[in-house]
Amino acid sequence: MRLIVLKDYQGVSDWAARYVARSIAEYNAEDKDRDFVLGLPTGSSPIGMYRRLVELHKAGSLSFSRVVTFNMDEYIGLPSDHPRSYHTFMNEQLFSLVDIDPAKANLPNGNAPDLEAECARYEAAIEASGGVDLFVGGVGSDGHLAFNMPGSSLASRTRVKTLTASTRQANARFFDGDPEAVPSTALTVGVGTIMAAREVLIIVSGQSKARALRHAVEEGVNHLWPLSCLQLHPSSILVCDEESTMELKAGTVQYFNEIEAVGA
Ligand code: GLP
Repeated sequence: MRLIVLKDYQGVSDWAARYVARSIAEYNAEDKDRDFVLGLPTGSSPIGMYRRLVELHKAGSLSFSRVVTFNMDEYIGLPSDHPRSYHTFMNEQLFSLVDIDPAKANLPNGNAPDLEAECARYEAAIEASGGVDLFVGGVGSDGHLAFNMPGSSLASRTRVKTLTASTRQANARFFDGDPEAVPSTALTVGVGTIMAAREVLIIVSGQSKARALRHAVEEGVNHLWPLSCLQLHPSSILVCDEESTMELKAGTVQYFNEIEAVGA
């Protein structure tokens, strides 16, 4: 696991965007026979990264023409054009602003008549695309990844999950402050789906994530803190701002900073 500590949210967003852009460019420079497969999150954490990716695209230094994306999750029962659906979020933040083929921008369908079949279809689509090269994510303050709440199986795959009261409360800010308006269920990729990606990059920002970060970095692998699964991933990066590292030991931060300085 790499832990990259940067001063603030802007630094984290720029770093993550540069990493994504470089990964796409390096992959496509090799003229592979399939598109780069990018896993993507919603939430407030990736907004700065999306803004920067759009800037890079507008500056002519990043193209999504040979990129397939798979989003992590979607609410069940919200129309896809609802202002708070993750479909709408992704169109507004990224897809409508870059040169991605809309047919290659995948999200689970939370309105599918058979949700189990939809989950199986989503997993099969990821596999058919060649598997995720880089899964970018955020993390909940309770350590959840996508909508894999504490206690989720670390081997789980795409499925229906019930949201905890605290997650509905946290997401109420997108629904006029009303937790009851937040759908109570969602389709989400599993922890195992994320772990199957060749690389995982998680954006961690703000003091509210400090406890989750401590559990993920300094404690053992534990299903009560799903983010800690990354200790078992061969190639994972946590890109964090200083605020989110407040519960880490000073020595832990120093250790990871030293490793990054040696590799720089
Ligand atoms: C939601 C999303 C997660 C996201 C989390 C944290 O639960 N399903 O993918 O990581 O919120 O959101 P934020 O980045 O707004 O703190």
